[in-house]
Amino acid sequence: MGYHFGVDYYPEHWPRERWQTDARMMREMGITIVRMAEFSWAKWEPREGEFHFEELDEVIELLAGEGIDCILGTPSAAPPAWIIEETPEIQPMDSHLQRHYFGGRHHDCQSNARYREHIRRFVTAYARHFAANPHVVGWQVDNELGNSHEDLCYCPSCEAAFRQWLQKKYGSIDCLNQCWGTAFWSQTYTDFEQIHAPRITAAGKNPSQQLDWMRFCSDLVLDFHQMQADILRRETPDKFITHNMMGFSRKVDYFKLGDQLDFTSQDQYPGGHFVPQGTFRGDVQAAELDFIRSLKHQPFWVMEQQSAITGWETVGRTPKPGQLGLWAMQSIAHGADTIVFFRWRSCVMGTEQYWHGILPHNGKPGRYYRELKAFMQETGPLLKIMQGSVPHPEVAMLFSYDQYDALSIQPHHPLLRYPEHLLTYYKGFYRKNIPVEFVREEDDWSSYRVLVAPLQFLMTEKLSEKFHAYVQQGGVLILDMRSGVKDATNLAFAEKELPAMLDDLCGVRVAEYDCLQETQGSVRWGDDVYPCEKWCDILEVADAEILATYDSEFYAGTPAVCRRQAGKGTVYYVGTEMSPALADRFVQQLAEQSSLHRLPRTPEGVEATVREKDGIQYLFLLNHTDTEQHLCVPDTWEQLGAASAEQCPPYGYCVYRMQADDQPV
Ligand code: GAL
Ligand code: ZN
Repeated sequence: MGYHFGVDYYPEHWPRERWQTDARMMREMGITIVRMAEFSWAKWEPREGEFHFEELDEVIELLAGEGIDCILGTPSAAPPAWIIEETPEIQPMDSHLQRHYFGGRHHDCQSNARYREHIRRFVTAYARHFAANPHVVGWQVDNELGNSHEDLCYCPSCEAAFRQWLQKKYGSIDCLNQCWGTAFWSQTYTDFEQIHAPRITAAGKNPSQQLDWMRFCSDLVLDFHQMQADILRRETPDKFITHNMMGFSRKVDYFKLGDQLDFTSQDQYPGGHFVPQGTFRGDVQAAELDFIRSLKHQPFWVMEQQSAITGWETVGRTPKPGQLGLWAMQSIAHGADTIVFFRWRSCVMGTEQYWHGILPHNGKPGRYYRELKAFMQETGPLLKIMQGSVPHPEVAMLFSYDQYDALSIQPHHPLLRYPEHLLTYYKGFYRKNIPVEFVREEDDWSSYRVLVAPLQFLMTEKLSEKFHAYVQQGGVLILDMRSGVKDATNLAFAEKELPAMLDDLCGVRVAEYDCLQETQGSVRWGDDVYPCEKWCDILEVADAEILATYDSEFYAGTPAVCRRQAGKGTVYYVGTEMSPALADRFVQQLAEQSSLHRLPRTPEGVEATVREKDGIQYLFLLNHTDTEQHLCVPDTWEQLGAASAEQCPPYGYCVYRMQADDQPV
């Protein structure tokens, strides 16, 4: 997969005379790769079967002349007008069965057979055309799969595919009725043909149907990706395939998508569309990067790294001096080997005129160009030596799309969000500079000393056994509120105690619960009292040690956080969502009990992270604050790059090399 700096480039937006200048300026900056062509189907195939790749050939050759290779996108996120004219039913429908029309992007239905024919024709010709071109090194299928309107697509073709999916899963309509609990409100089906996508209803929806629909939608996207990846692999086996993902987006199971890729990529926009003044997002950015790395537990690329002001109709703040480099360095610090900046030049046309590029609209280099050029020149040699290295966290966090989906359908508390809840723990580790890896249910967890498994809402025998075995063999497991509530079909357990199938392991029983709508709770831990949020499990302890108790409501004095030794390991049960202060206390206790390795302590807003390879560690100190930081580091550390920790500039960073056993804790 190599290591590069790159840009997302749209030569089709600019006159041909400009291309050479662009290529030269890119080379001067330190760019060695560009991603192109993911939105320009209309240009490459203006009429069915009539392919025109001449301009793309020309740009590729011109770039190659400056030492720049490229990745090409398949253009299925924006089918051209002539395809829509021929097959208007490709345009997706929302849950009101209202079509969403041509004129933006993502105006496609991914199950539509005719649309798939168009794609197969185009992608085959595309792949064949570039198969022998050594400067096309890889592919991106579509663009940010899953990034379309919230409830697309409910069209007849998608519903038919959904029915088939259900038939395969359940076999008989009786089985489906059972698993969906259709006895409720007379929803019983007598034939699969009666089943629809969870369209807009008069009142309420069936949560089991909704969950299967979300799983189906993810599978549909995976199938859509696989179809294109198969063609690309067949025609161009020597080129890699990656995909630009969106952190904790829910629409597609990224673990499964990762299985179809050679490596994963992330689109990293710390500025979002707009971030309110004073909001710290360094921790969320770090978590998303860790997540994308964790999908394959290997280095990844950033396919779109913010390079300027963001915004569509409205416009965000301008990045502060240094901040663009800091953000890119943060991506590297979490395991990115290549950073592709979005975009080369601010676009003069279309929806994204204000999602700026390295160059402004007028094409003359300004501050972003100068800052990023300096960044690339300084960081290039570092990337070269540290490529292939990754962090080796001792703490893992379980991430499950099933739990995410089920809790999106029924968040319980109106503000409960699955990723944000996981982040309450993640941020606790982040503030202590303890690295975290994300894992999925199927992974082998045994190499992690601690496994944080929040919101294990849907429970199966298999998963419960895996938790038991992990603890028996010495793991430290954290379980919490709303665990073991339902089975995999989203029906609540009828006869089991909460947390179902985990009560014996945790040594607690949830006797009652209290949803903290529009209020907070509190927890007493020793002499200190901390806020807690959204939910309180009211616990009865059978066989566990009580670490903290509630300090509010009629259940004040009853257990909130418990711990139990089991086998060679330990299991914690947390009955609530922790506030930052409570999470700090919790992580502190966990780190001490499990003697977790910590990277050097840093002041608030200064992040420490590490990549490791062959017994060498690369330590990054990232200053997300607007003030210079003065940090002490041991003499044995070798400074790489210009800045030293003693004088780390505002929005600056410094990088050190050390032997693995040199690590100060
Ligand atoms: C990303 C997308 C790009 C561009 C960018 C700015 O989500 O992949 O194509 O749209 O956002 O809006
Ligand atoms: Zn559809």
